[in-house]
Amino acid sequence: MTRGAIVVGASSGIGEALARELSEEGYELGLTARRTEKLKAIGAELPTKSYVATMDVTDTEDARAGFFELAEAMESVDLVVANAGIGVVNRDLEWGPEHDTIETNVSGFVAVVTEALEYFEANPTPEGEPDGHLVGVSSVAAHLGNGAIPAYNASKAFVSRYLEGLRYRQAGRDAAVTITTIEPGYVDTKLTMGEFWKASPEKAATQIARAIRRRERHAYITRRWRLVAWVVKLLPEFVLRRLFA
Ligand SMILES: NC(=O)c1ccc[n+]([C@@H]2O[C@H](COP(=O)([O-])OP(=O)(O)OC[C@H]3O[C@@H](n4cnc5c(N)ncnc54)[C@H](OP(=O)(O)O)[C@@H]3O)[C@@H](O)[C@H]2O)c1
Repeated sequence: MTRGAIVVGASSGIGEALARELSEEGYELGLTARRTEKLKAIGAELPTKSYVATMDVTDTEDARAGFFELAEAMESVDLVVANAGIGVVNRDLEWGPEHDTIETNVSGFVAVVTEALEYFEANPTPEGEPDGHLVGVSSVAAHLGNGAIPAYNASKAFVSRYLEGLRYRQAGRDAAVTITTIEPGYVDTKLTMGEFWKASPEKAATQIARAIRRRERHAYITRRWRLVAWVVKLLPEFVLRRLFA
């Protein structure tokens, strides 16, 4: 039976690499983002069938309608990856970048994942097949504040907590949708903000795909980043202030 995956934010970086990886695994792909030409070029290179839908997640009503149309057009949607995100260094706290970050990483994220869950709950899988799988791409940044990019880290804390809440909500529901939180450290894309332990998008995608296959609740990408998440919890505030001023 054909399996289908929608990747929101598939036009570059982690989303592009993951779309390629999932296609290699046999998924048909629904590719969405704002840059239509890039999506078409990626889709043309995939070994499985692909569908392209231009989407700006900050236009929330339009994004939700577009997501539904894309899902309806595909043969099957078994997996949705909410990966679209931006990060802007903004020490001067200009309103524009703070607003854009919240609109994309928080409002846009919620618009997409609520629509995805609604779709999974309205379209139960046949007896014996696993129910849908929703994957949200957060960040290790969710675990700490950062003076250079305060809205980004706060938005990722929101994403991680929101997904945790959705997992609790799933308990006892008829549709046993799996919800996976992905928290990458530095990955070599145009968004990245550091060099330390930087992984290629391909390596990140391989590890995300493994977490998807195992239907894990949570995965650090790469796995060693769990150490950072653990250490920042132990550091006193005066040290964190020096590191993340
Ligand atoms: N790279 C890292 O070090 C790192 C670390 C931790 C977490 N992450 C997270 O990983 C995710 C992917 O980022 P990346 O590093 O792969 O960067 P990227 O190459 O810039 O990819 C971001 C993706 O999000 C899409 N996007 C941005 N704004 C959008 C909007 N308004 N509507 C629809 N799509 C939108 C972009 O497509 P268009 O521009 O075509 O719309 C692109 O496909 C993000 O959520 C990011 O926060 C990255």
